[in-house]
Amino acid sequence: MIKVPRFISLEGIDGAGKSSHIPFIVDWLTKHGYDTICTREPGGTLLGEELRARLLSMDMHNDAELMLMFASRSQLLHEVILPALEKGSIVISDRFHDSSYAFQGGGRNISLSRIKKLDDWVGQTRPELTLYFDVPLDIATQRVGTRNDLDRFEREKEDFHNRVRSVYLARAQSEKARIKVIDSSQSLEQVRFQVQFILEEAFFGPKQTSLIG
Ligand code: TYD
Repeated sequence: MIKVPRFISLEGIDGAGKSSHIPFIVDWLTKHGYDTICTREPGGTLLGEELRARLLSMDMHNDAELMLMFASRSQLLHEVILPALEKGSIVISDRFHDSSYAFQGGGRNISLSRIKKLDDWVGQTRPELTLYFDVPLDIATQRVGTRNDLDRFEREKEDFHNRVRSVYLARAQSEKARIKVIDSSQSLEQVRFQVQFILEEAFFGPKQTSLIG
C-alpha cells in the first residue's frame, strides 16, 4: 500500500509562480476524494499574518527575521496544521521550513546549522512532499518586476536570489524522495502537467511513462 503524503509544501524563489498552481492541486485532491486545507507562510493564523506584514515590510536584524519566521511557523503548526492532520485532511502550505533554509540561510547567509536548531526546536512535523518550482533568475525577475508593490524580499538584489536558489537546489539534491523539482520556466499548462505527474506518482505509485520524451 502506498503511503500518501498528508502534508504538502510548495517552494520556490520569488517569481517562481508556485502560488498560481494551488487551485489546481486542491481541485485534483478534491476530485480524488481528499479533504484539503490550504495555508501559507509566513502567515496562516492571526498572529502569523501580523508577523507576515512586519516581515515583508519592516527592516530588522537577520536573526530577528529568522526567529519571526519560526514564530509564525510554530503558531501555524499548533493552531492549523496539526489539528487538520489529526482530522485526516491534507495540508497544502505555500512555503514551509525549506524557505527558511533558502532565504535566511542562502539569502541572508545565516549558518544552516543554526537554522536547523530552530527547525528541530519547532517540531518534527514536516512536509512529506514538496513541490519545488525552479526557475532561472532572469525569468523570475521578469515575473516579479511586472508587479508594482514589491516587498522586502522581492526588492533584494540578484545575488540574494541566486543564493536562495542554490540552497533550494542543494536541498532538492539531498532529499530527492521528498523534494520534487518542477521546471517552472515552462508555460502554465506544461508546469501543471508536471504537477499532475508528481501528484499521480505520489498518490498512485510510480508510472511506467517518463516526463522526458
Ligand atoms: P510569498 O509567500 O512568496 O508571497 P507572495 O507570492 O505574496 O510574494 O512571500 C513570502 C516571502 O517570505 C518570500 O519572499 C519568502 C519569504 N520567506 C522567508 O524569507 N523565510 C521563510 O521561512 C518563509 C516561510 C518565507
